[in-house]
Amino acid sequence: MITKSLTQRLAWKALTAHHRKAKGLHLRELFANDPKRGERLTVEAAGLFLDFSKNRVTDQTIALLLQLAKESGLRARINAMFRGEKVNVTENRAVLHAALRAPRSASIRVDGKNVVPEVHAVLDKMAAFTDRVRSGAWKGYSGKRIKNVVNIGIGGSDLGPVMAYEALKNYSARGMTFGFVSNVDGIDFVEATRALDPAETLFIVSSKTFTTMETMTNAQSARAWLLKGLGGNPKSVAKHFVAVSTNAEKVSAFGIDTANMFGFWDWVGGRYSMDSAIGLSTMLAIGPDHFRAMLDGFHQMDEHFRTAPFAKNLPVLMGLLSIWYNDFFGSQTVAVLPYENYLKRFPAYLQQLAMESNGKRVTLEGKPVNYDTSPIYWGEPGTNGQHSFYQLIHQGTRLIPCDFIVFARPLTPLGRHHDILLANVLAQSEALAFGKTTAEVKSEGTLPGLVPHRAFDGNRPSNTLLADRLTPATLGKLVALYEHSVFTQGAIWNINPFDQWGVELGKALAQRILPEIESKVIPKLKHDSSTNNLIRRYRKMKAAK
Ligand code: F6P
Repeated sequence: MITKSLTQRLAWKALTAHHRKAKGLHLRELFANDPKRGERLTVEAAGLFLDFSKNRVTDQTIALLLQLAKESGLRARINAMFRGEKVNVTENRAVLHAALRAPRSASIRVDGKNVVPEVHAVLDKMAAFTDRVRSGAWKGYSGKRIKNVVNIGIGGSDLGPVMAYEALKNYSARGMTFGFVSNVDGIDFVEATRALDPAETLFIVSSKTFTTMETMTNAQSARAWLLKGLGGNPKSVAKHFVAVSTNAEKVSAFGIDTANMFGFWDWVGGRYSMDSAIGLSTMLAIGPDHFRAMLDGFHQMDEHFRTAPFAKNLPVLMGLLSIWYNDFFGSQTVAVLPYENYLKRFPAYLQQLAMESNGKRVTLEGKPVNYDTSPIYWGEPGTNGQHSFYQLIHQGTRLIPCDFIVFARPLTPLGRHHDILLANVLAQSEALAFGKTTAEVKSEGTLPGLVPHRAFDGNRPSNTLLADRLTPATLGKLVALYEHSVFTQGAIWNINPFDQWGVELGKALAQRILPEIESKVIPKLKHDSSTNNLIRRYRKMKAAK
């Protein structure tokens, strides 16, 4: 039981005092004074190697951060989550994404019931369905085999599937196309289906609640598109629509046979669901064996997180380092920079994972926090980012900790490309850490007026995560690593990473504004003068066409 608020804990106070000294240290000195630092400040687990030596930390910083984790009751929180306790206190739910990847033989209880058999029953149902679709045994209404799969979902019911599809494209069935429709902007649906033959298209309507406005609107448009293309018989829907949801009633009300529904449970948060049935499009793309390999990767990282001492625990260390910059240096963002083009949607995926989880301003007890919570996650794959925003990371006024994600072996070797890619990522972390001093710039004969422009102060921190190659298992490990790092941060900030009340107000207001926009008679508007004016203007502009 934690009684002291975060800023009153001894380790927090010690870190505040320690930061006053540590902020003046330069990575140049830290490395010069400790020739083995680059080998020492590393940790490896489940085939992921983390070099955290280029962070602005000393051994004392790490010791104090570990002490903070201890004083914050992190161990008890981890155990409570894995035991199936209702750690999502505001929704009174267990949080058991770890059960989604537990082996068949495991036993994890929610309200006294072992949920692992149900998890595997759904996985088996997904695998049987996948085999039928991929083999052509599942036929569309007019007897053609399915060649196109379109996932309709948003947030956690989209970002995970899209990210995983892009990340694992190399393992996917190349004879099929996979599309993702999320935005209620009609263009998303129109573009995704433009070149598709309805007779060969399967829609997966993915929604935990099956009430989300965007997804339901897109699903209705998909239904209309299909019926129009296949002659209008409502019976065709059953052959071209399946659902992934926790809400069987709503699925059936939409007209999808619940026999073609793949379920999951309220103890799976949307942003933690890519390894549940929400991953059906992923399984259709890469096949059941690769999907299970991905789950095994997740599980390996779960076990590491659950059992490893904090000093050797990858997610714990990454979470603590993030707190160090966020709460002591005042860094506002974290850049996630994968040097693997297949991971191009990974930063977008992480944005929901981290920011919907830890973008909170009150503690578990509902008291306002007096410290910063989640940083902003962002990023793009290297080397592209080097030629756009890295300038700011190198020479701007903000401190932006970076996570570089690197693989030793490319999935599709091509000449010298991979060595060049690797040379670039290593060069970036080196340049960020050590910079280029004024003396070095001068010694190159640089014109005096240009010296300040060409000097790099360095001391800009980064982690480098190195793995062998991007396999399904590696992807699982990587996602679980960030899930647990986010958990670690949330536990220390004493907030609930598993609810998302902050998205509700906008949803409710949209429901109120929609009829005002659509009504034939001019509505009486009771918003603020800006919103009223914009609604009136929009009504006029759309009437003018
Ligand atoms: O609006 C936020 C949110 O509830 C996310 O948490 C969730 O991932 C997304 O919407 C989609 O929800 P659903 O799967 O219920 O359609």
